[in-house]
Amino acid sequence: MSNKTINTEQGHWILANMGKRVLRPGGKELTLKLVNGLDVKHEDALVEFAPGMGFTASMILKKKPKKYIGIELNEEAAARLKIKINGTPAATIVNTTAAHTGLEDSSADKVLGEAMLTMQVDDRKSEIIREAYRVLKRGGLYGIHELGLTPNELDPQFKSSIQRKLAQVIRVNARPLTQKEWCGLLENEGFKVKEVFESPMHLLKLKRMIADEGILRAIKIGFNILTHPDAKRRIMKMRKIFKKYEDHMTAYAIIAEKI
Ligand SMILES: C[S@@+](CC[C@H](N)C(=O)[O-])C[C@H]1O[C@@H](n2cnc3c(N)ncnc32)[C@H](O)[C@@H]1O
Repeated sequence: MSNKTINTEQGHWILANMGKRVLRPGGKELTLKLVNGLDVKHEDALVEFAPGMGFTASMILKKKPKKYIGIELNEEAAARLKIKINGTPAATIVNTTAAHTGLEDSSADKVLGEAMLTMQVDDRKSEIIREAYRVLKRGGLYGIHELGLTPNELDPQFKSSIQRKLAQVIRVNARPLTQKEWCGLLENEGFKVKEVFESPMHLLKLKRMIADEGILRAIKIGFNILTHPDAKRRIMKMRKIFKKYEDHMTAYAIIAEKI
């Protein structure tokens, strides 16, 4: 994939092109729990990995933290974000990978990232978690919101087949994990898990769409999908897989502390 321009083949960018702004598996509801759990204060220096369309960035900036740095890998998305936050002196967008942010050690009070670890292979997930640990101050919080699998004891073969089907339809090497696995990854890098929230993975369900986007935007997204047959075909395939595995797919928001 090119990290420069938006790869219109990937599921999340197809949805973004149809007008969808909330691109994380647990929706706005789980993001609110994550942001509330992080308890953003005016004196906080905050880093967001992969702000994407800037939905959470806007939510956080309303809380007026001392500093906000968004680390976005995609050049086009980073450029859009810079326009979006233009005029907010405390905010900066850096076009680089969350695995190597270039930020100083122990410089952040809070780090968060949504729907971005799922799309990395396991080694890269750990690398990004290590980077969050490095830039956080002791006692700082790392919040993640990612695609999950349930239950913890899911048969490994079945798990691989979900991961494979998902990767095929969203054209991203998506590797969702169980709650135990996500917590384990954080703990392996030295974090202490403080809170875990869960929401169903209803990204493409009408009720969630309205809750996330509002009724008018949801109608607009529906219209855009109906009038773009190629996108419609891809979105229907994604919906089918989400529906097929809905009993085993979920969304987790986890807050962990650098101890
Ligand atoms: C599914 S979107 C989620 C965007 C946003 N966090 C949200 O929840 O709406 C994935 C985003 O992660 C970004 N991304 C993927 N890998 C990244 C990395 N290693 N470092 C920074 N950003 C990354 C992509 O460019 C894209 O904007």
